[in-house]
Amino acid sequence: MRELITESAQKTEQAGIWLAGLVKGGDIIAYKGGLGMGKTTFTRGLAEGLGITEQVSSPTFTLINEYRGEKNRLCHVDAYRLTGGDDLVDTGFFDYVDSGWIAAVEWSEMVELEADFTVSFERIDDNTRKITIEGRGV
Ligand SMILES: Nc1ncnc2c1ncn2[C@@H]1O[C@H](COP(=O)(O)OP(=O)(O)O)[C@@H](O)[C@H]1O
Ligand SMILES: [Mg+2]
Repeated sequence: MRELITESAQKTEQAGIWLAGLVKGGDIIAYKGGLGMGKTTFTRGLAEGLGITEQVSSPTFTLINEYRGEKNRLCHVDAYRLTGGDDLVDTGFFDYVDSGWIAAVEWSEMVELEADFTVSFERIDDNTRKITIEGRGV
């Protein structure tokens, strides 16, 4: 387990870049923590660390955003409106995972998910977050 205190959005992105060094194709990253905690910000860093140059935006309205880099493919999911494991199956989520995409899931609290990494966000103050990363090798 690793606990980080980030004092800016940029520092949270750096934490995402760090995690990118530990993940491999087919891994699931489950985010925990509410609105505005920095999940999408963290994913920007994750994507950058995975060599993805496309701009990462919130999957709130799309449910799943796809990003392709030269070496890695990342799908970024918003599970907020899902109500359980079946809903996630219906989105085709596991087809991505089974074909080697790395999956980052916001609002993973809403679904039953066995994740390779869990990243939990807590608010300390306006600009400060506590980020707890658990998973393989952390
Ligand atoms: N330390 C920090 N880490 C991440 N975001 C921060 C931090 N401090 C302030 N922020 C701000 O909080 C917001 C986080 O938004 P976002 O990443 O979209 O959160 P979420 O996806 O969890 O809803 C951004 O406006 C960002 O600038
Ligand atoms: Mg978000």
